[in-house]
Amino acid sequence: MTNHKIVIAIDGHSSCGKSTIAKALATRFGYVFIDSGAMYRAVTLFVLRHNLMVDGEVNREELLHSLPEIKIEFRYNPERQSSDTYLNGENVEDEIRQLHVSQNVSPVAAIPEVRESMVRLQKEMGKNKGIVMDGRDIGTVVFPDAELKFFVTASAEIRARRRFDEQTAKGEMVSLAEILENVLERDHIDSTREASPLRKAGDALVLDNSNMTREEQLEWVIKKVKETLGNPE
Ligand code: DC
Repeated sequence: MTNHKIVIAIDGHSSCGKSTIAKALATRFGYVFIDSGAMYRAVTLFVLRHNLMVDGEVNREELLHSLPEIKIEFRYNPERQSSDTYLNGENVEDEIRQLHVSQNVSPVAAIPEVRESMVRLQKEMGKNKGIVMDGRDIGTVVFPDAELKFFVTASAEIRARRRFDEQTAKGEMVSLAEILENVLERDHIDSTREASPLRKAGDALVLDNSNMTREEQLEWVIKKVKETLGNPE
């Protein structure tokens, strides 16, 4: 086994299981896992709590003024065996996954200054390598030199169904149609925004998991990591 550590970038559409793959890879190789979407969600929660969003429009000036006050951290939670997201010292891991945050995150993530600030933090987190980060611009902007990049996707209907199952399992009252609408809207905003739109890095490996089980996906990505580490066995 080699001690050589790499950076693994995982990008793709919303709700296609990027975080699940990233988390499993991090556990398998003893790497740090960072969910960069959680950071944009935490900023969105700040925006909502401070009434900086009116009719879907962010009060940019106020937000930029407050940006230096927004402290986002990840702290390991042994119970969940994964990191929780903290906003100014408060654990917001559950709240940032709720629909009101999902419905408002895209316009916040489209603000260039918000992205610059998050990207700076993300680069810092990856400076010692041994990291798996998932998001939309990880292989293109955050770690363009990552040794291994994946681009994950699945059909919108399948992604909506997966998110629906996840939310209803948590007891949230949501409709499948509402979720599908949110998935399609986020795809559109994420892919067409001016600042770092979602796109596949030229050197990313594509994983369309519409018809794959979790085990099949994991087997495939683990094989790719081992090959990259020069340890294909
Ligand atoms: O992966 P997610 O659904 O939790 O991401 C939440 C939002 O944040 C999503 O609408 C896109 C945005 N995002 C982004 O713009 N860049 C990233 N690196 C990660 C997420």
